[in-house]
Amino acid sequence: MNARVSGAQPSPLPDRIAVLVSGRGSNLQAILDAIEDGSLRARIVGVFSDKPDAPALERVEPALRWSASPKAFASREAFDAALGDAIEAVRPDWVVCAGYLRILCDAFVERFRGRLLNIHPSLLPKYPGLRTHARAIADGEAEHGASVHFVITELDAGTVVAQARIPVLSGDDPDTLAGRVLRIEHPLLLAVLRLAVAGRLAEQGTTTTLDGHALFTPLLLDSAGALRAPDTDAPV
Ligand code: GRF
Repeated sequence: MNARVSGAQPSPLPDRIAVLVSGRGSNLQAILDAIEDGSLRARIVGVFSDKPDAPALERVEPALRWSASPKAFASREAFDAALGDAIEAVRPDWVVCAGYLRILCDAFVERFRGRLLNIHPSLLPKYPGLRTHARAIADGEAEHGASVHFVITELDAGTVVAQARIPVLSGDDPDTLAGRVLRIEHPLLLAVLRLAVAGRLAEQGTTTTLDGHALFTPLLLDSAGALRAPDTDAPV
């Protein structure tokens, strides 16, 4: 019996995700584990790095790895063009920067705009850039956390889809705080990717939409790992 006669809809193929990494790759591992245990319906189609010795690359089979040293290229634009060609070749639905520590040039961002997500370890718009944990402690912040946002040409400035918050504790140093932030990064990134691969998330101009409605305030991760709309506290 074919699908039309039975009334069953053919199941669409899982979304294809490309991941950009520069270091350890614990966020990549969280994605891999979620795909493996069936809690994220997606497929990793490539892992891309500006650091050929990044430990993150070892987390996937060699056929899925691409890396090159920017030093081998004449310019930042030339490196990003090669990176972009390699990513385009695997036809990703989503391109996820998960600990990719190199600034992307404007042409790269425009090439993948609308399917380019980044996880950043701060409550954006606070603390774009580096050393976020040390800066939050130095400023006496009571709360810190992580954000997942669409990437635009301005650094860490795209619309924030969702955030996870944790308290800064009195004895925190940048390392202890970074460790606790990392533990909430993983469920945060997965929760956003679940919305993305379900076709519920989009970037339209400078606005993020969820189920076709503009998201004016970032979603918040609750303690059970679910995203909630902060104004209504309703799970999404
Ligand atoms: C994470 O804190 C991420 O937010 C930041 O770099 C770190 C990468 O960690 N951009 P990992 O490589 O995923 O373990």
